This record gives sequence, structure tokens and C-alpha cells, in this order.
Amino acid sequence: MSDAMDAISTKSDIYYPSPEVVAQANVPDYLTLRAEAVADPLPFWDARAKELVDWYEPYHTILDTSTAPFFKWFVGGKTNIVHNALDRHVKNAHKNKIALIWVGEDGDERVYSYFELWKEVNRFANVLKSMGVKKGDTVTIYMGRTPELPIAMLATVKIGAIHSVVYGGFSEQALADRITDAKSKIVITSDGAWLRGKTVNLKDITDEAVNRSPIVQKVIVYKRTGQAINMHAGRDFWWQDLMALPIASAACETEVMDAEDPMFILYTSGTTGKPKGLLHTCGGYQVHIATTLKYVFDIKEEDRYWCAADPGWITGHSYIVYAPLMLGATSFIYEGAPGYPLPDRWWQLIEKYSISILYTAPTAIRSYMRYGDDWTERHDLSSLRLLGSVGEPINPEAWRWYHKYIGHERCPIMDTWWQTETGGFMITPTPVVPLKPGSGTLPFAGIQADVVRENGESADPNEEGYLVVKHPWPGMARTVWGDPDRYRFTYWSEFLSHGWYFTGDSARRDQDGYFWVIGRMDDVIKVSGYRLGTAEIESALVAHPTVAEAAAIGVPDELKGNVIYAYCILNSGIEGSDQLAHDLKEHVRQEVGPIAIPAKIEFVPSLPKTRSGKIMRRLLKAQALGQPIGDTSTLEG
Ligand code: WT7
Repeated sequence: MSDAMDAISTKSDIYYPSPEVVAQANVPDYLTLRAEAVADPLPFWDARAKELVDWYEPYHTILDTSTAPFFKWFVGGKTNIVHNALDRHVKNAHKNKIALIWVGEDGDERVYSYFELWKEVNRFANVLKSMGVKKGDTVTIYMGRTPELPIAMLATVKIGAIHSVVYGGFSEQALADRITDAKSKIVITSDGAWLRGKTVNLKDITDEAVNRSPIVQKVIVYKRTGQAINMHAGRDFWWQDLMALPIASAACETEVMDAEDPMFILYTSGTTGKPKGLLHTCGGYQVHIATTLKYVFDIKEEDRYWCAADPGWITGHSYIVYAPLMLGATSFIYEGAPGYPLPDRWWQLIEKYSISILYTAPTAIRSYMRYGDDWTERHDLSSLRLLGSVGEPINPEAWRWYHKYIGHERCPIMDTWWQTETGGFMITPTPVVPLKPGSGTLPFAGIQADVVRENGESADPNEEGYLVVKHPWPGMARTVWGDPDRYRFTYWSEFLSHGWYFTGDSARRDQDGYFWVIGRMDDVIKVSGYRLGTAEIESALVAHPTVAEAAAIGVPDELKGNVIYAYCILNSGIEGSDQLAHDLKEHVRQEVGPIAIPAKIEFVPSLPKTRSGKIMRRLLKAQALGQPIGDTSTLEG
């Protein structure tokens, strides 16, 4: 153990890595290496770029800061992540290794070797080409959790096109906005998806979204549920039919990309209702995600790794699909929801498939805690060796439960702090780092994070402040799609004179330098780890004919982290009622998606506003929590 760690002050609640864990770690000297890489990030990333990524042509510059904050990494390098995720493995010892194990909610199972996955991706890449998709085009993917989702992603990137995956839990307007913003002429969807024994009508939602986005010319539909849907002649094509055509051959060249060519767009919530498409590029993203997965989850040849997120979120992009394949690992995907049909479904799967690493969100852990320990005790979880958490702060109680009942006090927990914007892990332990329940521990090697005051000074130990990143990192989003000013303004204006990235989170760093993320400082709400903007919920509400104005806030909740409360001013002559509250919730489900449904809708005659007309959500929140409302001197009138 390094000297720094010997000096850890509060010994009582620290979980030191066991000698067995340290002995088998991929990077046992991580803490020494980390200290060097935090002080001087470029040699670290340069070495990883050479170790973990194959380049068709080498880069000449590791980092170009001349166009800051639009940084460029590995400039001059030619590459394609699909080469590193699939093509190279087909020529090496991984050819017949299992790349993907997929289990359906109904117990259906599909297993793909690297070679089989490579062929499927090539076939679908040829289908996309035959539909006119070219390098630089955008492809929107809105599918359930089946292997076709990663296959569609990989095929898109293989031919140099840019995917925009929209999570299947979003609804009509959210999908339409994202298709329109990305200017996708093609959408890939499924007829439906299985969820808790029922079907989600993905194709119906797609039809409605496409009606609102006239740019779309073609829709490819993967048949999963077999439910009745409408197929529009000339526009809609069955995935299975296309894959049966001679055009869908298993040979397809991988497009050679510049390191800074766009790879994918992923929409996330911000402070305005307009979707914000974060753009990730071909070179640096690969280096960041492969490095972090290797170091943090300590991936090894024999691992069966399960990241239980949805491929449609950044967690799934980076750590279900791309990084595990780059490292030649076996990634496990389960279609269904947690706790269905019975609360031991996940534990049963871990036992049956000998899962060795499980990566999930605190909200899932808390719901399993509620079901009780006896559900976990029914299963042999001895295959597990490492656990992970992501999406929101994990409360120490849930951490300890996860450690005891799932990890059997043997598995270290990697609490990984990062964002859609960061591409990969930023603040995280590795298996050799002593853990404190609820803390993401230390910035990863090569990452310069800090907690600062408004004036840029570093905060004192345990003082709450702004969580910032002071040096560029390879996985960083390069811009907001089609809106570079928004990128500059959102992330780089708060600490403009310093040139630092502001995460939107508040945090504190304790006397040992351990980071404790507190939560969002902006109008973003984390509900069950899902990220929602107050503006999205508000614009859905005011789109309803009865609502004149609306305000949404996040209120702490034991299970979900936060829930949404919405306050609505109704149009004159409209009376609030339970029925109307119900209808408004239904309306939000329809427009944004089930994750955005407010837990409570209250009808109010007015909303607290500043003189400039901004809704004071802080005040609404204080009221909802029964706290003193504090300074109201900037209140309206
Ligand atoms: C926001 C980013 C990155 C994958 C999923 C979320 C919160 C994320 C943690 C964590 C405390 C966390 C932050 C962050 N967050 N992970 N381990 N501890 N908070 O990506 O949807 O872009 O959300 O999630 O508030 O800013 P995202």
C-alpha cells in the first residue's frame, strides 16, 4: 500500500483490499502510477493508446489545445473502434471466444462468438449501405434490449456513419426531437419490446415520432414480439427480410476514420427543453473506455461481465458494447427489468451464467434491499469477484448491503462517477484502492478533478463546492451536435478564465482527498439514476391544453434517489382534480416517457419567480421539504 493510503485518517469505515484481490489485479501498482499520471496525464494516455488500440496510421499529436475548449486527441491517427472491437479479434485467439451472451425476459438465449458477432455486424453494415447510408450520415436507433441493438450500433460505426441511440423508455415527442435534431434519414426500431411480461409498442411510438419528423425516409423494424403493427410500404422494412437478401453478405470493409471524426451522438438532459446531443469521436473515446474498463473492472480472459444498464445510455455504449469487446471480454445482456417475475431473477442469472462482475445502479440495489436478503440467499453467488455502481450517489447503507449480501464481503465495489459528457469513468477506485462506502474515492489516473469555490480556489477539506475537471481527457465529448456555442456555454463558461470543465455537480473532498459527489447543481433531476431536465417535463406539461405554466423539481426519495414534483397553473376556467392530475401524468408518459412521470402534481394559482421571470425552483423545493425558504429578496413584485 502506498504511503498516501497509510495516511488515511478515518480508519473506521474503510474497506482495504484483500491480499487476494491485490495479488490478481491487472494493475497492482495503480496508486503509484496514478500519482504520476494525475500530475502529467499525456504520457499515461499516450502509453494506453499504444497498448490497447490498433491504429491504421499512428497519430502525430497526443493532445491539441489550440482550439480549446474544442480539444483534439490523437491527431492524425486513423482508426475505427469496430476494428478494435471485432475485426482484430477474428484474426486472433478470441475468434471463437464468446463475445455476447443474451438472455430474453422469457428465458430465450442467444450466444455470439466474436466471429459470429463480426459476421452479423458485417451483414447489417451491408444492409445499411444498401439503404443508402454513407460515412458521416446519422442513424437513429430506438430498440429494445436485444443483440440487434449493439449489432446496429457496431454496423453503423463500421461504415463510418454516426449513431444516435434513443433509449426505449422515451416516448413520441422525445424521440421526434432527437431524430429531427440529428437529421436522421433512417431509423432502426423493433416492433415491440418485452417488459414485465407486457409489450412496449416501440413501432407505434416510432410511427408517431416519424410523423413529426418528415426527414425520415426509411425505417428498419426488427421483429421481436410479433405484435400487430403497421408497416408503411416503401418506408418500412423488416430487419429479418433485409438480412436474408444476398446483399447482406458477411464481408464488409471497415471504414478508415480520423481520430476526430464523429462516432456517435447521445442525447442527454440539460437546462433547456431542447435535446442536447453530445458528440463523441473515434479516437480518444476508445482509449479512455478500454483503459478504464481494464483498470477499474480488472477485466480478465475468463470473466463473465454483466453491466445491467441499457445499451441506449452512455453506460451501455461504453461498458456493455464497446470497451468489453475491445478487451476481448464476454459481455452479458439481459432483456428484462430487475425483480421480474420474481425478486431473485438477477441472482438466478448470476448463478446460471457464472457472472464474475456485476455493474448496476444504486436504485436497483435499494430495490433489491427492500425485497429482503432471503432472495439473494437462495442462490450461489460465488462466481462474483467484483461489483460496480453508477448513476447517482450510493448511500452507505445500500453500499454495505451490496457488499455483504451480493459481494459476500469478498468483492470490492467500484463506485464510478462519470457522465454522458465524459465518455468514461472519471472518479473511481480500482480494486487496489481502499474504499469508503458512498465515495467514488479518487480521480482516475490521468484525470485532474477538483472541488472549487465560485472564485476558482480549491475548497477546504469537507467544504462543498463545484466539481470541475482541470485538464482535458480523451473520452470527453467534443461538442453539442449542431450547437458548439451551447457546448462552450454549458460546460466551459462557469470557470472560463481557468479553462476548466464544470460538471454540473457539487461535491466535497475529505481530508484524505476522497471525493463525495453530492448531486446536481443545475436543473437536472436524477430519478432512479435516469437523467431528466426540469424543462423537458415542464414543456410536456404546458403542451397539454389545460396547463398555462408548470414547474418541476426533484425531491429526495429513499428508493429512487429523487422523484419529480410538478406544479401547474391551469388555464382560466379549468378546475384542478384528481382526474386531471392523472391525465397530466399520462400525458407526460406519452410525450417524454414513463421515467419522466411526476410522482405528484399540484395545482397552484402562481409560481415563485425572480424579477426576470425565472421560476425559483429552489424555493419550491424548500417548501416541498418543509424547510425554511431563505432569501426571497429577488422574488417577483
Ligand atoms: C450524472 C451524469 C455516467 C453513467 C450514468 C450517468 C450522476 C453518475 C455517479 C456516482 C454520484 C453520480 C452525477 C452526474 N452520477 N455516477 N457514481 N456517484 N453521482 O450518466 O446520465 O450523464 O448522468 O449522474 O450527477 O453528473 P448521466
